[in-house]
Amino acid sequence: MSTASSPASSPNASSAIRSNPAPVVAPRVPLPTDKELVLKVVPMPADCNANGDIFGGWVMAQVDVAGSIVPARYSRGRMATVAVNQFIFKQPVRVGDILSFFAGVSRIGNTSITVQVEVYAERYDTQGHYIKVTEASLTYVAIDEQGRPRPISRI
Ligand SMILES: CC(C)(COP(=O)(O)OP(=O)(O)OC[C@H]1O[C@@H](n2cnc3c(N)ncnc32)[C@H](O)[C@@H]1OP(=O)(O)O)[C@@H](O)C(=O)NCCC(=O)NCCS
Repeated sequence: MSTASSPASSPNASSAIRSNPAPVVAPRVPLPTDKELVLKVVPMPADCNANGDIFGGWVMAQVDVAGSIVPARYSRGRMATVAVNQFIFKQPVRVGDILSFFAGVSRIGNTSITVQVEVYAERYDTQGHYIKVTEASLTYVAIDEQGRPRPISRI
């Protein structure tokens, strides 16, 4: 899968790999109304894989950060990602895309919180035209100073 190809490994390799200039043809979609915008970020050429698309691992790291923001309101302290329950790369991400990360809590357990994250891309020159590029489900656990699960409060 192109999005999961390895990123450039040497410091100069990213300049040798041309970002993919081909437009992504995908349906325009509305933004979710049941989730919160938690992060916006623009990937750079250094985030490309060998195909010139954005490396899937870079997207996963951003989703992990974005997914943790709402659970942090509940955990009010240290947290750890315990599981990536699902991760779907629906469309490739390109250098310069404006990525918007939306997140919503789907389950609050005793020590864990599960979050759904959806990622939408806008091209710089067609802002307001969103395509859905990724969706994921992640679970975070509140942990104490010893790294053990601890109960979370419901707010
Ligand atoms: C997170 C961690 C402290 C949990 O410890 P644990 O002994 O597995 O804890 P438990 O079995 O008591 O489970 C704690 C909670 O996590 C949930 N959980 C555990 N494994 C899970 C899985 N595979 N998927 C979804 N939820 C899971 C449990 O259901 C429980 O939730 P609840 O209390 O709301 O019911 C431990 O697994 C850990 O330190 N993992 C490494 C975390 C880390 O380094 N993350 C970054 C990786 S890059």
